[in-house]
Amino acid sequence: MRTLEFDELQRALILIDQTRLPHHTELVSCRTPEQVAHAIRTMQVRGAPAIGVAAAFGLLLAALAHPSNDPRAFLDDLERTAAMLRQTRPTAVNVHWALDRMLAQARVAAEEDGVEAARSALMLRAHELADQDVDANRRMGAFGLDLVPSGANILTHCNAGALATVDYGTALGVVRAAHEAGRGVHVYVDETRPFLQGARLTAWELQRLGVPMTLITDSMAGHFMSRGKVDLVLVGADRVAANGDVANKIGTYSLAVLARENGIPFYVAAPTSTIDLSLKSGVEIPIEERSSSEVAEVSGVRIAPEGVHAAHPAFDVTPARLVTAIITERGVLRPPLQESLAQAVHAEPPVLA
Ligand code: MRU
Repeated sequence: MRTLEFDELQRALILIDQTRLPHHTELVSCRTPEQVAHAIRTMQVRGAPAIGVAAAFGLLLAALAHPSNDPRAFLDDLERTAAMLRQTRPTAVNVHWALDRMLAQARVAAEEDGVEAARSALMLRAHELADQDVDANRRMGAFGLDLVPSGANILTHCNAGALATVDYGTALGVVRAAHEAGRGVHVYVDETRPFLQGARLTAWELQRLGVPMTLITDSMAGHFMSRGKVDLVLVGADRVAANGDVANKIGTYSLAVLARENGIPFYVAAPTSTIDLSLKSGVEIPIEERSSSEVAEVSGVRIAPEGVHAAHPAFDVTPARLVTAIITERGVLRPPLQESLAQAVHAEPPVLA
């Protein structure tokens, strides 16, 4: 199944519970927007594109449950729900991107054709956002193929795979396309402390796909790069600012510095839904601070002495100057990124007012 699917009969968003992988494959069923928000906050569903689409279905649940047929009350309810969903995780812009599109659809449909028509339009729109995500990932895979030589050793961080999207993946979508094209690639998988998305999720996905890989701790990346074992670094993104600065999982910035030091290309695969032209640079990107217990504990077992304070910024920002190229569903964007990003975003029809 896809990472998330909407069950129309049950009126529920069904998610693969990513906190239980790789040892347990369990599903979570969300019947209310609050349950969707909880699933996003606790990272049962995670990854920028996946939480964007999950939020869209969360808003759909609010629309389906709304009791009145008054367009004003309906739209107020949706605005309130969207505000609640926007607060789940601050760094990935995809949540705002998806909710903005859903709200625009709701306004036009409710004001022109009434609440019942708006519910149907939102159902279609949410499914469309989900399908578009899969389509974008496949396109990124095809464009990214040009950057992956035969026999390449690719280093990746966190999980930018099918689980982080509706299906197929962004950075891992490129890996997958290269593997399917017979390029004979091998992947170094950073374990990705503290939440271990690499060890738990990327390793699980690559194993299922039959892609050769080696799991390493984050601190081993420099060693393998300096020994000529890594041909390219390939990661996803949670938000890309107008100047090309990239927010991604904590530890990504260090990889970009190491890649530059070792003359290795550093690629980011990100759909245009991850680009935020409203922010001039990465300094403006909000960085989520998660619970210190996720650092002081591993899988619920305390590893640091009781009472020790632990910091937990969940993301960092890689400056544009360290980014070799950004792979999007509209092509591979090269520096100057300020210009190529603006062109790529403006290729999309504007969101309805
Ligand atoms: O905290 P997470 O697991 O949601 O962080 C995910 C990442 O940093 C991914 O690299 C990013 O969302 C891109 S996913 C296609």
